[in-house]
Amino acid sequence: MASSATLSGGTSGKSSSRVISIGLLVVASVVAARFLIHYAAPYFRWDPKYFDYLWPHRVRLIVHICGGIVALVCGTLQLWTGLRQKAMTFHRWTGRIYLVGVAVGITGALLMTLSTTPKAFGVALRGLATAWLVTTLIAWAAILRGRVPMHKEWMVRSYLVTFAFVTFRVITDNLPGFAARLGSSADDAAANVTWLSWIVPLAVYEVIRQSRRLFGAEPNS
Ligand code: HEM
Repeated sequence: MASSATLSGGTSGKSSSRVISIGLLVVASVVAARFLIHYAAPYFRWDPKYFDYLWPHRVRLIVHICGGIVALVCGTLQLWTGLRQKAMTFHRWTGRIYLVGVAVGITGALLMTLSTTPKAFGVALRGLATAWLVTTLIAWAAILRGRVPMHKEWMVRSYLVTFAFVTFRVITDNLPGFAARLGSSADDAAANVTWLSWIVPLAVYEVIRQSRRLFGAEPNS
């Protein structure tokens, strides 16, 4: 009796966390699509006015944006198929394309940071690029060694970092007053929003994971 209660508690806990994961993925997909349509797609019109101060660096920026789009789209598909444990051949292929997108995105990003001013913003973006590289390489190494639970965890971390540019826009578009208060100038604030856009999501994810382990919703591994 006790074990069946535990079992049904565990099953309902699992299905409610699945519902929450699916809900979060729906929100992430909609927000990512909005970012791609509003911010990324207009660069393909090749209009100097839209590029603004980035016009002299247009080629590396377009390379970066192409990699970023592939990573964002494939990363979202990866989590959908990984969560449902279905279409695993498709999952493997979108995973490989995700890796290529991240590699191209990082290369373009690092080339962009060579000319980013002020320095504090450049440093923040290099920090983001490093986190993108490290989380993605660990997720890849984990699956190459057959460590599926570890791969899942690090793919979520890699995706949260991929999502940082979207998070950055969510903060600056919806909380402009808060963003402005983070720095003594707009550039200073942009550097701090960049740090927050990946460190806070990773920290929240960590707190959730460790609490689930601590309170028994997940086995320790
Ligand atoms: C997560 C790691 C990323 C890093 C380190 C990074 C880095 C950069 C850098 C250095 C710039 C130039 C900023 C400037 O000098 O003003 C830039 C711009 C841009 N990036 Fe990324 N990026 C990342 C992810 C992405 C992703 C996933 C996308 C999705 C498409 C993306 C889309 C863009 C766009 C559209 C711009 C032009 C500026 C804007 O409209 O926001 N980036 N990025």
